[in-house]
Amino acid sequence: MYSSNSTQFGCVGQFLAFASGEKSPYQYLTMQVAATDSASASSPVETPVGTSSLQQIKLNGALRHMMMGYLQPQDWIRVVGKVKVDARTGDPQWKAQEIVKISTQQAIQYAQQKAIQQKAAQQQSERQKIERQANSNNIDKTSIDKTSANEAASTRILICQKSSCRKRGSQAVEDAIARTLKTHGQSQHITIQPTGCMKQCKTGPHMVLISSKARQKKTSNLRYTQVTPRSANQIIKNEIIENEITGNAL
Ligand code: FES
Repeated sequence: MYSSNSTQFGCVGQFLAFASGEKSPYQYLTMQVAATDSASASSPVETPVGTSSLQQIKLNGALRHMMMGYLQPQDWIRVVGKVKVDARTGDPQWKAQEIVKISTQQAIQYAQQKAIQQKAAQQQSERQKIERQANSNNIDKTSIDKTSANEAASTRILICQKSSCRKRGSQAVEDAIARTLKTHGQSQHITIQPTGCMKQCKTGPHMVLISSKARQKKTSNLRYTQVTPRSANQIIKNEIIENEITGNAL
């Protein structure tokens, strides 16, 4: 019993002998395969150039009669046919459709040609593998960049700029934060948002840090009072630049 799939093959090698089967003492020929066609390179009977393998090939009735007195041991031959996989054993079965004698020179040329084709196919396969790896790395990097950008974009610094906090220096705090973010390349990702009164007037300037990290950790937004330019810079370094939620939340 054979599986329905079959693969075309072509190969060259040296004829060794006939072998008997149920129907005839010439039912098979045995050959030393030197190289296979690239078209059959993906078949289960691939024979890389530079190696050789013994192969038994089944002959139909017409080929048996033609080859009986035609082939001599050590003749170089080219065989074209089909390979089918035995569904029970899983073994490939070769069946010839055409057999021709070739010269030693033709066999050498054939093997050299196949060696070049196989090397080119291997190089192309390597290139494709490298390209796939490079694409995969780019996708990963893009994904990481997007995640970082989204995380940063969702971080906001609210600074009260209403009268009481302004009197206590909230504008200087905002300017100091803007400079620190710029120094660390974060000014395009972090939003500084001046706000109205936050009802903490007596302990201003008042500042709130809204961070995606804090939300992930289910931590409250970080609120700071009596902020100075110096303490604001320290808060920004701790909470944003070093990316830790460790501030003194109220
Ligand atoms: S004025 Fe800033 S909290 Fe009220």
